[in-house]
Amino acid sequence: MSVSASSITVDGKNVELPVKTGTIGPSVVDIGKLYGQTGAFTFDPGFTSTASCESAITYIDGDEGVLLYRGYPIEQLAEQGDFLETAYLMLFGELPTPAQKADFDYRVTRHTMVHDQMNRFFQGFRRDAHPMAIMVACVGALSAFYHDSTDISDENQRMIASLRMIAKMPTLAAMAYKYSIGQPFVYPKNDLDYTSNFLRMCFAVPCEEFQVNPTYARALDKIFILHADHEQNASTSTVRLAGSSGANPFACIAAGIACLWGPAHGGANEAALKMLMEIGTPDNVAKYVAKAKDKNDPFRLMGFGHRVYKNYDPRARIMQKTTHEVLKELNIKDDLLEVAIQLEKIALEDEYFIEKKLYPNIDFYSGITLKALGFPTSMFTVLFALARTTGWIAQWAEMIQDPAQKIGRPRQLYVGPAQRDYVNIGQRG
Ligand code: SDX
Repeated sequence: MSVSASSITVDGKNVELPVKTGTIGPSVVDIGKLYGQTGAFTFDPGFTSTASCESAITYIDGDEGVLLYRGYPIEQLAEQGDFLETAYLMLFGELPTPAQKADFDYRVTRHTMVHDQMNRFFQGFRRDAHPMAIMVACVGALSAFYHDSTDISDENQRMIASLRMIAKMPTLAAMAYKYSIGQPFVYPKNDLDYTSNFLRMCFAVPCEEFQVNPTYARALDKIFILHADHEQNASTSTVRLAGSSGANPFACIAAGIACLWGPAHGGANEAALKMLMEIGTPDNVAKYVAKAKDKNDPFRLMGFGHRVYKNYDPRARIMQKTTHEVLKELNIKDDLLEVAIQLEKIALEDEYFIEKKLYPNIDFYSGITLKALGFPTSMFTVLFALARTTGWIAQWAEMIQDPAQKIGRPRQLYVGPAQRDYVNIGQRG
């Protein structure tokens, strides 16, 4: 990393600010001294030009549509690896040897059960509770069960908590799904791989043997890889901010799940499929594209646009390919795919979308595949959270070990009333 300098003058006060350069990507101007030497803050609502940390986990080039996990292109990881290999890469920084992979799979598998009293949690929810509400509650509640892995200053406890989070998310997600359809919970089986185990916990019933369809398992495992991490997105930044106060990892992940739920973020996959269902047929697409362009209409094309990608989201390209493969393999003709293809075609040829550099993002096609795999729309963001837990945990662990990290505490531009005296109620109005 090289450091040069820039300078800024605020109200006549000049200060030199170091410029830091990373391995690849934009440099940063270190403004740590700015307030102390000028009395002024920077102002960047939405953090459109602000780097919050140093990180070595994920790199995105939004203009070129590049996504690297620890330097490896997402296309290669998704096509050649499996999700737990990506999880290992996220946590440890290198691809595992065969022995390391076997050990990691073994350790994660043996943390997939949850404390049996977690079952009682579910009895408190209505059957029609949104599964993301259940996930926020249950993941936060894990800190009530695992007191032996909440001391974040202990490296061993941090690792056990990380393995528990990655291992138990599929179990809790499957329980949330089973509860919503009134079926009994299915326990994990240690002789199944991570994603097959999850599919069995979701779709098996006690009345008969269940064989996981390998096409389903491979497609879903690839989807998990695509969703594993994405630099300092809103939910990851939430996890980091929660973690900066010293909160335990289960509480931090629960905060991340809550943030991911929003339709501008992870909730977009559920919203995108509902949008395609509302559009209904390719003939209606033009009308909805016009709505999306109308400044007076709050409607947006869900699954389109991105804060960083000003080119095609590389994950959306893989997602589109996976959607075609799954539908073909399962011999499913989904009219919504025709709607999505027509919507993408019209939008990408439209001046509004070209000028604003709006392309399909990961959420545009994922819903069609998840629907084909048998999941209800209410479970789509839960699946996103399941996969992103790996990235959240890796980013949280990186932050805890960062010597520069301190509690996150932004400032503000105050626009409220200047100081004034209290007026007794008898003298008001
Ligand atoms: C994810 O950050 C990440 O990495 C997130 C994520 C991850 O893996 O963690 O990639 C996952 O959250 C993907 C994004 C999913 N969300 C959606 O698909 C919802 C629809 N998209 C948008 O709401 C929007 O594009 C955002 C939220 C994704 C990005 O918003 P920005 O960067 O704040 O951009 P903006 O809202 O300022 O939009 C810029 C312009 C605006 O027009 P002007 O005010 O300049 O005239 O583009 C327009 C917007 O109105 N615009 C859209 C649009 N998205 C932006 N117009 C129509 N349809 C859209 N989808």
